[in-house]
Amino acid sequence: MRELKILGILVIFTGVLYWGVEPFAHHQMHPHVDAPDYQFKDIKGLDGQTGDATNGATLVQANCIACHSIKSANFPPLMDNATSAASYGVVPPDLGSSGLIYDEKYLAAFIQDPATATNTKHKFVDGAVHPMPSYSWMPPQDIADMVAYLKSIAPKKLSNKEVFADACQRCHSMKYGDFYGGSMKAFSDVSKYMGSSAPDLSQLIRSRNKEYLHEFINNPQKHLKGTAMPRVGLTKAAEEQVIAYMENVGDSKKPQRDSLAWPFLAYLLVFAIFAWAWKIKIWKEVH
Ligand code: HEC
Ligand code: HEC
Repeated sequence: MRELKILGILVIFTGVLYWGVEPFAHHQMHPHVDAPDYQFKDIKGLDGQTGDATNGATLVQANCIACHSIKSANFPPLMDNATSAASYGVVPPDLGSSGLIYDEKYLAAFIQDPATATNTKHKFVDGAVHPMPSYSWMPPQDIADMVAYLKSIAPKKLSNKEVFADACQRCHSMKYGDFYGGSMKAFSDVSKYMGSSAPDLSQLIRSRNKEYLHEFINNPQKHLKGTAMPRVGLTKAAEEQVIAYMENVGDSKKPQRDSLAWPFLAYLLVFAIFAWAWKIKIWKEVH
């Protein structure tokens, strides 16, 4: 009876301690954040216009290639990364893959008003303006045409690394991506433009889990209110590719580790059987 009481007290204290350390503290430190649904409900896209890619090509040439390269359509960058970063605060991304990696609705909303779509209006106050002009003066049909053009020239598929390069590398390095070879260095230092520097992402998968990254990339403000990091309106597929790349670089042994789980449990089981058999043998002699 005494043992049972002691056990009861132990269970209660351990239970309270566990609840305080795990669910309670976790809840306080990480308030609940809605999972991303990739609908971009908070921003206004177009009103269902169908785009004409041919007209879109003319419009993109007239409006966008002064800042953006589109290498696959023979519009090389007009300046090197350093000059470009000095002019705009950040190197404008190549638009060859935009039609694939960005959500269509987000893309239209971004062209119409970059600061609103990226959720970074709080950064552009006191005369500071987003380096990309807003095209909200254009008829929605023209925006739809440009989006249709960007979709028509986008490749059908990209590697995980290519998606990272187009979506994140203008701000973030991934220095373990090529073991300090330099090719995965950020294209620009955005500390001045954004007011805080963009961290190297090589090891981020270890300090933040996948769910966090999905929620964060989809809408950084949800986790870090006031953060400088813009929302990058990736499609679900592109976002998964970026995270797969981060996992591959930051935690390349994960598949191997996962595959060891069952053999390891089997090993423990065998030793548990031996230990049990040994116990029976010893106690038999004692009794
Ligand atoms: C004056 C230079 C300039 C012009 C003109 C310009 N952009 Fe940009 N654009 C930028 C810069 C700078 C960025 C990067 C901003 C950032 O990452 O904060 C950018 C980013 C983008 C992005 C990435 C969006 C994202 O969420 O990551 C797309 C797509 C884009 N521009 C499309 C266009 C299109 C289409 C046009 C023409 C209608 C255009 N831009 C015209 C400078 C420009
Ligand atoms: C226009 C620049 C820019 C782009 C593009 C950008 N980021 Fe960031 N990112 C930042 C900045 C600046 C910070 C630091 C934010 C802060 O300190 O408030 C940041 C922070 C982060 C963090 C740290 C979050 C944390 O909890 O500490 C992660 C993860 C991240 N970015 C992932 C990405 C990924 C993945 C992409 C591409 C899909 C991307 N970023 C694109 C500028 C950018």
